[in-house]
Amino acid sequence: MKEKIKSIEQEINDFEIKDLAILEKFRIEFLGSKNKLKNLFGELKTVPNEEKKEVGQLLNGLRTLAETKFNSVKDSLESNSTKSSSIDTSRPGEISEIGARHPLMQVRSEIIEIFSRIGYTVSEGPEIEDDWHNFTALNFPPEHPARDMQDTFFVESDKGEMALRTHTSSVQVRVMENQKPPIRTISPGRVYRNEAISARAHCFFHQVEGLYIDKNVSFADLKQTLLYFAKEMFGENAQIRLRPSYFPFTEPSAEVDVSCTICNSKGCNVCKYSGWLEILGCGMVDPAVLESCGIDSKEYSGFAFGMGIERITQLKYKVNDLRLYSENDVRFLKQFTGNI
Ligand code: PHE
Repeated sequence: MKEKIKSIEQEINDFEIKDLAILEKFRIEFLGSKNKLKNLFGELKTVPNEEKKEVGQLLNGLRTLAETKFNSVKDSLESNSTKSSSIDTSRPGEISEIGARHPLMQVRSEIIEIFSRIGYTVSEGPEIEDDWHNFTALNFPPEHPARDMQDTFFVESDKGEMALRTHTSSVQVRVMENQKPPIRTISPGRVYRNEAISARAHCFFHQVEGLYIDKNVSFADLKQTLLYFAKEMFGENAQIRLRPSYFPFTEPSAEVDVSCTICNSKGCNVCKYSGWLEILGCGMVDPAVLESCGIDSKEYSGFAFGMGIERITQLKYKVNDLRLYSENDVRFLKQFTGNI
């Protein structure tokens, strides 16, 4: 009897279980309803009384051995199969990259939104312009020295010599030619100037120009509109100041500074320790421009202003090199992910 127990113990220990099918064979053989141990338990009655206790214990030990082996092999086979074939749902997912709108386009939208809140519509026009819309209608007569203020790219076309527009004031001429006052519109768009590319200048940039024409429009309206814009764009504490300037299409004309957003007007190297930053040009529309566009300058007056989107973006996000806007460097663009 003891021999038999020994040999089955050996069998259990030597039984190699590589997969779940073999494990099932093991179970049938040593733990199933007709298992080998049962025969031995049956034979227990033939064992002399004085040995019964010892043999009984050996048999119980045998059963425990089979059970323990079965359970441990089962656990390890099952955990292996989980690893190899199914998905670990607790693993962090792969995060897909979220793109960002270009900072200039974000600021463009913001400017449009600010002016649309006070009733301005958006108007657009061609980037390749004729002389009339870019210059002549805006009071730049041929040979007028003010044409030199804007280094123009000229292009030949079947309509003769054309220009890449140097400002979006050209769009405002088109609006005035086609609409009756009151007119309240902004013209966002890309403009071109023949400048050497550097950190502070580029051969193309983006503008938003505004135009307001109605009866009795005054310089005070212009000033208040620009103050509203500065506060909406740069915060409630923003202040503006106007300095006399010259543009052929406005009279009087001014350049507008906003209080330095970087040092709160205390003086820093961005505002060159003046506390002020130049952001736009503006003025009352010259009566000659109104007349050129078919608007009676005795009945109507208006103001216009124009700003560079690059400049506003620079001040808002502290961008120190204009070239960054057009280099498509993902390290730069990524910093604007998650904005509007
Ligand atoms: N068109 C001018 C420029 O591009 C800006 C401007 C617009 C100035 C309207 C005055 C009035 O520099």
